[in-house]
Amino acid sequence: MNDGAGARRLLVRDLAQLATPAGTGAPLRGRALGDVEVVRNAYVLCEDGRITASGRMRDLDAGVDADDELVELDGRGLCALPGLVDCHTHACFAGDRVDEFELRATGAGYEELHAAGGGILATVRATRSAGEAGLAEAVRRHREWMRRAGTTTFEAKSGYGLDEQTELASLRAIRDAGGVPTWLGAHTVPPEFDDADAYLDFALAEVLPQAAPLATAADVFLEAGAFDVDQARRYLSACGGAGLALRLHGDQFSEQGAIPLAIELGGRSVDHLEATSEDGVRILAGSDVVGVLLPASALFLDRPMPPARALVDAGAAIAVATDFNPGSSFCESLGVVSSLAVTQLRLAPGEALSACTVNAAHVLGLAAEVGRIAPGYRADLVLLDAPDWRYLSYHLGADHVAAVVEAGEVAWTRFAAPSQPNGPR
Ligand code: NIG
Ligand code: FE
Repeated sequence: MNDGAGARRLLVRDLAQLATPAGTGAPLRGRALGDVEVVRNAYVLCEDGRITASGRMRDLDAGVDADDELVELDGRGLCALPGLVDCHTHACFAGDRVDEFELRATGAGYEELHAAGGGILATVRATRSAGEAGLAEAVRRHREWMRRAGTTTFEAKSGYGLDEQTELASLRAIRDAGGVPTWLGAHTVPPEFDDADAYLDFALAEVLPQAAPLATAADVFLEAGAFDVDQARRYLSACGGAGLALRLHGDQFSEQGAIPLAIELGGRSVDHLEATSEDGVRILAGSDVVGVLLPASALFLDRPMPPARALVDAGAAIAVATDFNPGSSFCESLGVVSSLAVTQLRLAPGEALSACTVNAAHVLGLAAEVGRIAPGYRADLVLLDAPDWRYLSYHLGADHVAAVVEAGEVAWTRFAAPSQPNGPR
């Protein structure tokens, strides 16, 4: 949209509220996690994709010249929040698992389906046969769903290919759709290998050298029936050596040592934590590793919720994310996840907001770029059609995203024409 003629500017004006995590560090923890700065009757000014100023309308500089390059967005009745950051998704998949969903409703277990060759392996079969163009199209479609729910930055993992061609195609598809790619090369053992060690021999020798330049992080499913702690250490150590940040799916069904391993290896996060004990809470809280909580996944699988309140009260750094995938969390909405964070994880709305903005950005290594409404940050905003920012979590399952701004441009809006340069408001 920028023709290069001058500084492209966007003014979102007359907002009912602007809300942003108040703390300046990252990750936020303890009391700072829940501190939210709220400005009523507010504006946000963006220039060339960055936020340049925000505050009360009455303090808006008369010096904002209404020239040809200024686009005004009418924020009356809306609340501006930082664009939401989803730091844990499996958005690169083909097919669905709706049959399995029905089977689970009538008694089949998630782990039982996995052990019988369904579950993750069913999605591996569909993903392998989709082809690179099909995968790219799937990630673009899922990205659009996320955007309409207010997500402006998303991470997505490979892990449904588990062969060289499909893993690399997945990482490229994620990157091409604007996502932050994670190589989940150790999701499960594909059927052509006899055991996990033989599969890891292949993945580390053949795939890692090509995956490392495409991905920013590596992830492993450390769980009975997937990879054990020694295999996870081997995989992550090799990935760390190739320059990737390290993450783990850990303590989902059973405690297998994911938290100590993440600390030992200097990992960014341990994700899930539904089975974490009091000891695990204490150890994680004393570390720099972020606990990524996935309440939609616990709900979808009818599993216990992770001990979020205990983690926050013990001083742990936490984030929340969707875990969007076809098997354990077919949910792309961080708004729904925020509602679950408040009602099921007992977080305050402000803690939930920081957990899916600043702290999620920290997990992705992007805390200086996204997750706050403050000068210098990327101009990513979600505008809620609500009188109070807490409706993000309060209005369960609402379709209340009015518009999404990415890098200072309206990326999606439910209104036909939100604004025109100097046009009527
Ligand atoms: O985070 N637990 C491992 N992986 C995913 C689920 C993948 C699937 O069921 O397809 C998760 O829940
Ligand atoms: Fe996951």
